[in-house]
Amino acid sequence: MTPEVTPEVSPAVGEASHDPAVTEAWARLQELADALDPDLRGWFAADPQRVERLTHRAGDLHVDLSKALVHGGVLDALLDLAGEVGLTRRRDAMFAGERVNPTEDRAVLHTALRLPARARLEVDGHDVVPDVHEVLQRVYEFATEVRDGSWTGITGERIRTVVNIGIGGSDLGPVMAYEALTPYRQDDLECRFISNIDPTDAATTLAGLDPATTLFIVSSKTFGTLETLTNARLCKAWLLDGLRTAGALDDDGGDGGDAVARHFVAVSTALDKVADFGIDPDNAFGFWDWVGGRYSVDSAIGTSLVVAIGPDRFAEFLHGFHVMDEHFRTTPLHANVPVLMGLLNVWYTNFLGAQTHAVLPYSQLLHRFPAYLQQLTMESNGKGVRWDGADVTTDTGEVFWGEPGTNGQHAFYQLIHQGTRLVPADFIAFANPAYPLEDAHDGQSTDVHELFLANFLAQTRALAFGKTAEEVRAEGTADHIVPARVFSGNRPTTSIMAPQLTPSVLGQLVALYEHITFTQGAVWGIDSFDQWGVELGKQLAQQVGPAIGGDPDALAEQDASTRALITYYREHRR
Ligand code: F6P
Repeated sequence: MTPEVTPEVSPAVGEASHDPAVTEAWARLQELADALDPDLRGWFAADPQRVERLTHRAGDLHVDLSKALVHGGVLDALLDLAGEVGLTRRRDAMFAGERVNPTEDRAVLHTALRLPARARLEVDGHDVVPDVHEVLQRVYEFATEVRDGSWTGITGERIRTVVNIGIGGSDLGPVMAYEALTPYRQDDLECRFISNIDPTDAATTLAGLDPATTLFIVSSKTFGTLETLTNARLCKAWLLDGLRTAGALDDDGGDGGDAVARHFVAVSTALDKVADFGIDPDNAFGFWDWVGGRYSVDSAIGTSLVVAIGPDRFAEFLHGFHVMDEHFRTTPLHANVPVLMGLLNVWYTNFLGAQTHAVLPYSQLLHRFPAYLQQLTMESNGKGVRWDGADVTTDTGEVFWGEPGTNGQHAFYQLIHQGTRLVPADFIAFANPAYPLEDAHDGQSTDVHELFLANFLAQTRALAFGKTAEEVRAEGTADHIVPARVFSGNRPTTSIMAPQLTPSVLGQLVALYEHITFTQGAVWGIDSFDQWGVELGKQLAQQVGPAIGGDPDALAEQDASTRALITYYREHRR
């Protein structure tokens, strides 16, 4: 394997992007792909060092790439590709606070959110680290007051439920981490999450809650998102109505300002808009435009998580991110796990025709992790133009998806094992369960976590090595059924293990995928930090709104299909 290559193309910010397809490494990878005769059985047999060579450590993560569909020549060419496109130059530019998000003219510094307080990082001549830690301290103080009961609602009762109102990055990260860190939550405090503008979401989430003991966190980077502001208004009305009905607020209690002050806080980069909404700026926690929404769970957007797990655990979570940041920033590329995993994804996507990528956590606690990764990876790398506006010439971001094992096994694994499509998959598991349980039956006791892990191990083995017709026949299978029971093998997986799903390990996992995403975007020459693709739908929703409401002129402006759908709606709406 070659060492880190000096960049031949060095895409400095503001300069032209690059076309990876014209690099020498790309041409070599194409030749290697054309000649590839995947044979994981043979490769393992011929190379006793394969597992050792392709297993890497990143923080607490043990990452086994040996079941990847690569041989040494492919890895060398992928690392050369990283060199030719200037991956390390762009990585270093991001960490240094350069404006690597040109279409929004912004620095990209989620990594600054997890720097230790002693670090320094200047953006436009200003050290941002003290700002980060000042907000963190305020969030920690607020969360501590909620957790110890000294933050009370308008009736003097302590808070029992915290409802985060937000969508996209202002929801998915907090929900995912809240679920993942269930064992670390404070027992007498619950968090709930409202994201969808479907009124069902607010109605069902608020059902059964007592307004006197409920606190809302309105989380929105822009504080201009229709879903979040609508849900925040619904919640405000629910709160004030509920308090009035309970006699906790006078009927003539004005706009309920005191109640809002005790029951609403906000997280945003737009603190002026927070004030306009009626939330006291003293109850608002800021962050910065250099934090992308999908990279914001470790900013004040994680306030609900801090309330749930407490400042010390949140600090461990941040430390986990930082551990992975340092691994990504300093480890030579041939042993750099996010780089290798990102390059493998490029290999599968651009050379072996994969269109999707499965993420399969063998941990029920990570049941929202694939959904979280969908925004991280697909909003980042679902781009058809490069960062300088030129059309890409290669495929970009793959579809990420997944479910926790073993549920997925009984749903879609059939296609991964025997279907016609290549689905590279990441399997994630932990040595220690959060809830160790024994299954006692017939005078025996089985550690259920070991049953679970047996599945984790069996699946990647079956996918890699398959089962030949001879092996199937040797089991006495009737000839006409043999083809249906053959497993081709050579279906690539990565196995990621860690001792336990702690806050730190969760931070490491999230940062791992952030940097995998970065690596792929850097190879493709795209801006992984903008998200213009979500704007058109938002604009059209504003335009369609009056037509749904019955405005004939607005209806006439719609296309024929939209008109017909609106007509159907108006005929059927009771
Ligand atoms: O869907 C687009 C998007 O801008 C995401 O990138 C973001 O996470 C989400 O909307 C929510 O935005 P905000 O935090 O500004 O409400």
